[in-house]
Amino acid sequence: MGRKPDSTKPHSGVGSASPKTARRAQPSPVFLGTALFVLGFVSLLTGHIVTDADWSRIRSRWRSNQVRNNEPIDIWKSRYSSFYYGCSRRSPRLRSAVPENASTGYLLIATSGGLNQQRIGITDAVIVAWILNATLVLPELDHRSFWKDDSEFSDIFDADWFISYLSKDVTVVKRIPYEVMTSMDKLPWTMRAPRKSMPEFYIDEVLPILMRRRALQLTKFDYRLSNELDEELQKLRCRVNFHALRFTNDIQTLGQKLVWKLRFMSSRYVAIHLRFEPDMLAFSGCYYGGGEQERKELAEIRKRWDTLPDLSAEDERNRGKCLLTPHEIGLMLRALGFGNDTYLYVASGEIYGGEETLKPLRELFPNFYTKEMLVGDDLKPFLSFSSRMAAIDFIVCDESDVFVTNNNGNMAKVLAGRRRYMGHKRTIRPNAKKLNALFQARNRMGWDVFSRKVKKIQRGLMGEPDDTRHGRDDFHEMPSSCICQRIPVNRSVTTQKENLAAQVR
Ligand SMILES: *[C@@H]1O[C@H](CO)[C@@H](O)[C@H](O)[C@H]1NC(C)=O
Ligand SMILES: *[C@@H]1O[C@H](CO)[C@@H](O)[C@H](O)[C@H]1NC(C)=O
Ligand SMILES: *[C@@H]1O[C@H](CO)[C@@H](O)[C@H](O)[C@H]1NC(C)=O
Ligand SMILES: *[C@@H]1O[C@H](CO)[C@@H](O)[C@H](O)[C@H]1NC(C)=O
Repeated sequence: MGRKPDSTKPHSGVGSASPKTARRAQPSPVFLGTALFVLGFVSLLTGHIVTDADWSRIRSRWRSNQVRNNEPIDIWKSRYSSFYYGCSRRSPRLRSAVPENASTGYLLIATSGGLNQQRIGITDAVIVAWILNATLVLPELDHRSFWKDDSEFSDIFDADWFISYLSKDVTVVKRIPYEVMTSMDKLPWTMRAPRKSMPEFYIDEVLPILMRRRALQLTKFDYRLSNELDEELQKLRCRVNFHALRFTNDIQTLGQKLVWKLRFMSSRYVAIHLRFEPDMLAFSGCYYGGGEQERKELAEIRKRWDTLPDLSAEDERNRGKCLLTPHEIGLMLRALGFGNDTYLYVASGEIYGGEETLKPLRELFPNFYTKEMLVGDDLKPFLSFSSRMAAIDFIVCDESDVFVTNNNGNMAKVLAGRRRYMGHKRTIRPNAKKLNALFQARNRMGWDVFSRKVKKIQRGLMGEPDDTRHGRDDFHEMPSSCICQRIPVNRSVTTQKENLAAQVR
């Protein structure tokens, strides 16, 4: 089994995004006050009402200023989330779906990886079909990945909804019609696109073959389309990912049941997605405190990848390459201000060390729940399907008030983007690099100092609308084309000034 733990290396990027990079010198409150006064004054003279642009310019300056001034944040909910909303409405300028009989051919897709990596692939497959004027055949899911799940597309997603929701953009069919199949003299051509290909690649390299063969399959389809696309196509990506891809009724119902059970116990909860599988730990090359046994076991697993360099566990920790342990995630949450009465929902695969590893987290947060604890028997029909189980966790994590991960895998990325789109629900991405260093020095400081440092390290990685550059290069993680600012349309100059003054106070 040669699987790398994830297509992205654990943590790459998490540590490198420093909140500092986005901060430039900002004007002082005095300047802002003056600017407002001048604007108001000018508007009196000219009758010019402060425009949306003026307003947003003032507000964004003032916002950055708040960040710089270490304004304490509300850990449960961003105070600024209501200024933004997800927007992905179809523009009439976008070319409409090409009918099946006029399309350039049938595009087949074989996705790759776990549920969320496949989700990325499905999303981008729709865009590729649009670019090629092709008819998309419902994507084929990966049955051979590490996660081994025989589910078909329609076992996980609502296929009819998917087809009808996208009907204006791309024609999607469940299978290639029988007549077409029998009229083809050869099997569909298969090929693999390079990572993050530009639309031109598909037009130059894929379209001619598609037109010649009438059907073509793109294999291992996941991150195969560029992050940089026309705005309208980015919005189409959001329509697919955030609207057209809906889980089946069975999955949705059970996921919702879990959410209700949690909400019945507590009006709000934190969902944690933990990855702490043996092979992830081995891959990281770090030491996690499990003594000689751990060293031996992880070294054994590392032999699977013959290209891995010999790493010093200590260097890796100093470089901030280690996964945060469940205990460390718990300490981070407590340091950020979540009390011991907080309800936790923990989504995870296999945890190295099992219960023993989770125990310190449970001690920090006694209200600790997993799906098995909440709906034991109802899970039976799903147990042998890892993707359906992952879908249930996805729903509970998506609905949570606060979402935290200890990794930078596909689920973390997909949910981070989705939660931004759905109203900037609080999403905490630990700065593993800096936290690694802080945890090493933890015995040398009191709790208050530790807590203050954690808050400082995490600034800019809390899922605020103006978060730092973290993830900005990955569209699925930061779907900026689909985030719109809600401008107060009906405000007069005075109410704007009053509101601003109230916020500054
Ligand atoms: C395609 O099918 C539609 C009906 O579904 C029909 O009206 C149209 O003429 C057909 N176009 C071609 C090129 O066959
Ligand atoms: C798709 O169809 C549109 C309109 O019919 C056309 O302008 C465009 O060139 C076509 N693109 C491809 C790749 O065939
Ligand atoms: C939470 O902490 C307080 C002290 O801060 C303690 O009195 C209480 O028993 C704790 N609650 C739980 C559920 O552990
Ligand atoms: C502005 O407010 C007035 C009354 O308060 C309302 O009738 C009007 O529809 C509003 N306009 C917009 C664009 O919201």
